[in-house]
Amino acid sequence: MSPNLHQNAYTIWFTGRPSAGKTTLASALNLELTQRGFVCRNLDGDDLRNGLSKNLGFNEEDRTENIRRVAEVSKLFVETGIICINSFISPTREVREMARNIIGPDRFIEIYVNAPADICENRDVKGLYKKARAGMISDFTGVTAPYETPLNPSVELRTDLFSVEECIKKCMDFILPRISF
Ligand code: ADX
Repeated sequence: MSPNLHQNAYTIWFTGRPSAGKTTLASALNLELTQRGFVCRNLDGDDLRNGLSKNLGFNEEDRTENIRRVAEVSKLFVETGIICINSFISPTREVREMARNIIGPDRFIEIYVNAPADICENRDVKGLYKKARAGMISDFTGVTAPYETPLNPSVELRTDLFSVEECIKKCMDFILPRISF
């Protein structure tokens, strides 16, 4: 697909609840792929919400717009031959389906970062579950906003049961044959 980069570009889309481990795994995957000579770019919810999606909040409409923008950007990377590694809650099947259709269904790999809701809440990496329970944040995924589990992800990673290394190995087993030129 990209003769110059010697790789087949895809968008690798990590979805999951807050504190499930999306950002950690997306960064680790970037490192693993880069070390093997692949060219990739990460797009992360927290980053993009400070820039491209700065004007958006967390109601359903804004999340849809956030994911639409991210998907359009991902499409540009993939068209250039660059592997795009995304980490976004992307909480509904509908928004993930939209992303898949924008990017192109054959270029989209969905990875479900799955840790049970109570474990994510106990981890509370950024202290946001606590704030949401205290009523300080509205529309918080897993507390006052829904998370719909993917029905048929390409890969499912149980981050409460497996180490980062084990999860990355599982991702690589799926991804490597596809991206290799
Ligand atoms: S998405 O739903 O539109 O895909 P995205 O992944 O971009 O969300 O952003 C999620 C990040 O925003 C979380 O990691 C968290 O740090 C922060 N955040 C702030 N408010 C909320 C909220 N109400 N619900 C979820 N995440 C929130």
